[in-house]
Amino acid sequence: MNKKLYIKTYGCQMNVYDSGKMADALAVQGYEMTEQVADADMVVINTCHIREKAAEKLYSDLGRIKPFKLARRAQGQDMIITVAGCVAQAEGAEVFERAPFVDIVVGSQAYHRLPAMVGEAESMHRAGRKVRRRLLDTDFPSESKFDDLPAAQTGSISAFLAVQEGCDKFCSFCVVPYTRGAEFSRPADQILAEARNLVAKGAREITLLGQNVNAWHGIAPTAASHAASSSEWGLGRLIQELAEIAGLARLRYTTSHPRDMADDLIAAHAQVPQLMPYLHLPVQSGSDAILKAMNRKHTADDYRRLVDRIRAAAPNLALSSDFIVGFPGESDADFADTLRLIRDVTYAQAFSFAYSVRPGTPAGEMGTQLSRQVKEDRLAELQALLRDQQTAFNQSKIGQVMPVLFVEAGRKPGQLLGKSPWLQSVHLIGDSRLIGHILDVRITDGHLNSLSGEFVMTNDDEDDWGDDHAACCAGH
Ligand code: SAH
Ligand code: SF4
Ligand code: F3S
Repeated sequence: MNKKLYIKTYGCQMNVYDSGKMADALAVQGYEMTEQVADADMVVINTCHIREKAAEKLYSDLGRIKPFKLARRAQGQDMIITVAGCVAQAEGAEVFERAPFVDIVVGSQAYHRLPAMVGEAESMHRAGRKVRRRLLDTDFPSESKFDDLPAAQTGSISAFLAVQEGCDKFCSFCVVPYTRGAEFSRPADQILAEARNLVAKGAREITLLGQNVNAWHGIAPTAASHAASSSEWGLGRLIQELAEIAGLARLRYTTSHPRDMADDLIAAHAQVPQLMPYLHLPVQSGSDAILKAMNRKHTADDYRRLVDRIRAAAPNLALSSDFIVGFPGESDADFADTLRLIRDVTYAQAFSFAYSVRPGTPAGEMGTQLSRQVKEDRLAELQALLRDQQTAFNQSKIGQVMPVLFVEAGRKPGQLLGKSPWLQSVHLIGDSRLIGHILDVRITDGHLNSLSGEFVMTNDDEDDWGDDHAACCAGH
């Protein structure tokens, strides 16, 4: 009988990707996924350290899981509890102190070693040891985890692919340079091979991931086959190569830093039809004083000019961003500058957060921390503006016909969930055999978080769908 693995993932898309990789690696050791903690031989909590609340979730989860472990123990069964990800990296052995029933703590750069650690935990259980040695690995090993992990075992229509990891930017509020380590770009040939495998497993869309994805750079795979071009590639060039993979219909990348938005990448938005017209380009603040204190190394006007250049190259591109309000020392005027920047740029979507003190970061030490009330009030005002812009963007699509990639069944019976080129969720009624296909949809309504639509019957619907399409769409 296969062993059961339960994984809970917090944090960014990189963590989602990492959890998939851990599942693939443990599948080789006979673990299959379960949704039920009570049945699990192994539990992995893949954690996020970015804000205080995110980190605290680990300990409340562990408190809930402990009774299940004790119940299994009472029946002579085991439950190996692993804490992975950015809290594991940041807190290391402290996790065992706060939660002594945890077996393994593995940092984000060492999870290729997780199968060996699990093997050791299993053998301690088999040997009947009551007091087990805890296993800790928060190294930044010299070998890359990417060289050791198995290829994706299962497919998804919209897949993630990590191309870059870590960060050298040291924004003064952020833990990522400490939890993910120095900036690292995966080799182009490894990325192309992983992309081909994902497409072979059914991916129609790939989102390239990195903490600073647009800082990716690499050596061209074989100088001979690309003799005419430079041997050093940037992300724009990598995207052009990925677009050559037959069957790969859509490409995206996230998250980008404004300072790494190179010309070849901007040009790719104009030249590569598979590159979707949507860009997550966090600005954090619209005040130059705060941007300086954040160590972002660009001004608000630098960002405005950059947006103008991107929009000149790709007029239909929509933007999203991250914002932090209530950074230490942020005045009413600084906050007003952020609102002004949002009005100037106009976002299709955005994430916004109240500043959260992170131990060990320069901003955490600043003596100008704001009260919780000020942060909450500003966040509410900023989010109201962003919500209005998001609703307006979604409503601007009403009446348009756009290609929609169907990714999964919707929540209501008979409903499908698709993605627009601008990453909007599109709901409509349709046959589940459409999942994995791209079809034209007329948008009938726009809401805060999604669009509604209906199929458009045309003669040039996607080739690979063929006659089946007409048959199963009849009546919609
Ligand atoms: N460049 C990164 C950003 C990671 S953190 C990436 O690839 O996603 C995601 C967002 O969390 C940041 O853009 C920032 O808006 C927010 N964030 C980071 N540290 C924070 C803190 N201390 N308090 C509040 N929000 C924070
Ligand atoms: Fe954090 Fe700044 Fe690096 Fe993004 S660029 S991961 S916000 S330090
Ligand atoms: Fe969180 Fe680590 Fe991602 S801190 S946002 S899981 S890089």
